[in-house]
Amino acid sequence: MRISFVGFMGSGKTTVSRLTADILGHKHVEMDEEIIRISKRSNIPEIFKIDGEARFREIEAEVVHNLDSISDIVISTGGGVIQNMEIIKSLKNNNGIILWLKTSFDTVKSRVMNFNDRPLFQDVNSAFELYQKRLPLYEANADIIIETDNLSIEEVVAKVINKLQSADN
Ligand code: S3P
Repeated sequence: MRISFVGFMGSGKTTVSRLTADILGHKHVEMDEEIIRISKRSNIPEIFKIDGEARFREIEAEVVHNLDSISDIVISTGGGVIQNMEIIKSLKNNNGIILWLKTSFDTVKSRVMNFNDRPLFQDVNSAFELYQKRLPLYEANADIIIETDNLSIEEVVAKVINKLQSADN
């Protein structure tokens, strides 16, 4: 299967997708790590600061393009891919499934606010604006929606596997 996890910053994509890939025995790709590697910078804030967000988005699209023909893969995307329809189309190639980890703003805020590694989550008001802008886009493009509020990582992973099994039949 070709599965891409989408969702807002702090929705749990990295951890949940990694465990899902382990269970399925699929390759796992963390897009942000790939972007850092290609950019030759040390972290995401550095890419935003030195190269700019536009360059970050270019590399993001390149990373997805490079994964286009791979099946049996689980991709953990960055929260912003949902604003690029070319990327979404690409993730859906080869029967690709888009799985949205739907998490309330209160929950993502409590997870992300104390970290400095997310240039687009520097203050609550602008992050909330972004959240509201993206919500309908996740909704419109997801093949599978998993609500994650108040669930443990293990519970979310169990839901994911369950939904993927029904999608596969
Ligand atoms: C971004 C989300 C981040 C990272 C970058 C931009 C976004 O990834 O790609 O900071 O636009 O929402 P996570 O969703 O993994 O935090």
